[in-house]
Amino acid sequence: MSNPSSPIGVFDSGMGGLTVLAELAAALPQEDFIYLGDTARLPYGTKSPATVQSYALQASKALVAKQVKALVVACNTASGLALPSLQDAYPELPIFGVVEPGAHAAYAKADSSGVLVLATESTVDGGAYQRCLAQLDPQLPVQARACPLWVTLAEMGDRDSELAQHILRADLPNDEEAEQPRTLLLGCTHFPVFKQTIQALRPNLNVVDSASTTAAWVAEQLAEAGLLKPQADKTSMRFLATDGAERFARIAEIFLGQPASQVELVDL
Ligand code: DGL
Repeated sequence: MSNPSSPIGVFDSGMGGLTVLAELAAALPQEDFIYLGDTARLPYGTKSPATVQSYALQASKALVAKQVKALVVACNTASGLALPSLQDAYPELPIFGVVEPGAHAAYAKADSSGVLVLATESTVDGGAYQRCLAQLDPQLPVQARACPLWVTLAEMGDRDSELAQHILRADLPNDEEAEQPRTLLLGCTHFPVFKQTIQALRPNLNVVDSASTTAAWVAEQLAEAGLLKPQADKTSMRFLATDGAERFARIAEIFLGQPASQVELVDL
């Protein structure tokens, strides 16, 4: 049984999952967090399901060893490909992925034109978002598109240069084409940083990301399970990375909105 006073573990392939951590910290300001970025093995988004599952299991094991009370798989690729394996490995631990809450949020906003999921190659190929949306409404038109360049742009801190706008525009539905989905689901940790640029480029799109909806869902589930931290006097955010602590700290601000101090290196 988890201890409500313990921290919440969050993991991602790297720094992008800090977008999810930022939303979790906003939704659960009384909680302590331990964030693990598997920077040595980034990206997960081009790896096979078996590799992503094995990496995700190792990352989870490291956080479980730190006595977390719940685990949030911030990485969309790992959520899509490895969540059931993690839940099998740790049946007692509440483990939350980002795919289900993201799909629910997109479904709630979608009209008959459907949903376009933008994600990594492995997330798109794994089909978890498509399956989840089809379960919610088998008639809903769903498309999915891999946007690998967006990950690089986000890590460069480039949200809206000419180059960034050009790349984003090429992957976004075209306003002039009638049959295009009008709801966009940002199914990758890095993509929420482009929200404003996307809205400026395509004001008619509904843009949904899995980060904020996951945070709301985790908050609700922890409250229901009686796992909210009882005392909120002092909170902590601890950062672990498997490589490049200095780069992690530098780039973290893009995704977290604040610097990540004291990044500890760990081996998985
Ligand atoms: N964290 C990954 C995701 O959300 C993006 C980066 C990667 O490919 O590892 O799918």
